Amino acid sequence: MKTSKKKRITIGTVNIGERARELVEDAFLRNRISSGRYVRRFEELLEEFHGVKCAVAVSSGTDADTIALSALKEDGVNEGDEVIMPALNFISVANSAIHAHLKPVFVDVDRKTFNIDPDLIEEKITNRTRVLIPTHLFGKPVDMKRVLDIAEENDLFVVEDACEALGSRYKGELLGTFGIFGTFSFYVAHIITTGEGGAIITGDNRYDGILRSLRSHGRACACKVCQLNVDSGECPYRFDVEDGDMEDKRFYFLRIGYSAKMNEIEAALGIEQMEKIEEVITKRNENLTYLSGILEDLGEYMVMMRQEAHEFISPLCMPMVIREDVPIERADIVNYLEERGVETRPTFGSIPTQHPAYRFLGYEYGSFPNAEWIGRKGFYVGIHQNIDKGDLEYIAECIHDFFKLKGLR
Ligand SMILES: Cc1ncc(COP(=O)(O)O)c(C=O)c1O
Repeated sequence: MKTSKKKRITIGTVNIGERARELVEDAFLRNRISSGRYVRRFEELLEEFHGVKCAVAVSSGTDADTIALSALKEDGVNEGDEVIMPALNFISVANSAIHAHLKPVFVDVDRKTFNIDPDLIEEKITNRTRVLIPTHLFGKPVDMKRVLDIAEENDLFVVEDACEALGSRYKGELLGTFGIFGTFSFYVAHIITTGEGGAIITGDNRYDGILRSLRSHGRACACKVCQLNVDSGECPYRFDVEDGDMEDKRFYFLRIGYSAKMNEIEAALGIEQMEKIEEVITKRNENLTYLSGILEDLGEYMVMMRQEAHEFISPLCMPMVIREDVPIERADIVNYLEERGVETRPTFGSIPTQHPAYRFLGYEYGSFPNAEWIGRKGFYVGIHQNIDKGDLEYIAECIHDFFKLKGLR
């Protein structure tokens, strides 16, 4: 009987090996647990992996989005300007626009990709639109060619939310490297985890100092000691300020920043995982291919994530959405799976019409039919690097059994 299976097949996974333990121990021995040389090493690994000049580690993916948007304020984006994003998204992407004093504007998603529908973007562009956030949901790449063309024609910044997509590629290029900024989350459910954590990457070095200043209260000093924080040295420019009463540069602030630094313990976990990143991504991708194959016959009942020829997906999970004409409630299948040890999550929902937090914007239910359908009928299961073929076969068997029980097989 399925219920005898003790193992729980989780959405996310935590991998803490010898290497991370040694680094954590070293941080303890050095009495250095706030941001330091391990945070910088983690950033270097992200820079090397993505082939970019600058990665800035922060305390969450939400902070990564918020700081990326705030940095654009130094490049002509003004308070109240509009940020276009998909209606189906994790809530924090909309929250980050609000935290940065910008206005989120929502676009419905494509039913097959679960991502922003490029055909619907242009009708939402106004003279206040300045930024486009094409979230790569569940690790699936957005049609970046279309998005970049629209952004170029309309003079918009692209901030790629790749929080769920570390290692995914669009036409061979890593996600996060197309926009002015790419953002990542290292929360436990994500591709790699530092417990809590995030990062911003950019190929534009002009932003390096701005991002580092914003994550640390808006500090003025751009020297290695203050910004890279690699060790507890003394700032060589400490008393260089000549501005009225202020002379100590470490406590002199240029902009309104955030308190969003990563710490050494988180970075230690991140270093170990970035050193094994190719293995992690390969395994997740193999799991997606295998699970897609053994669930293919259920395509008439559910829409599932598919990898197209121009993509390489490093998946967060395997999303499935029950088709509208199939007489099955999401709660039934979700409960069936949970009782059998298969963890599930709902597929987020339409932020403007299915979450009370955004009702104040006044959108009518029905305005985002695809996002709402996915929000009503979708769920996902894990396919992370510690899930093996046997686990995937078990998940597929449970799902097949459920449809049989409902007389649909
Ligand atoms: C697409 C997306 N963006 C941003 C975030 C925010 O990341 P965090 O939870 O690290 O703040 C998440 C979190 O799950 C996410 O899924």
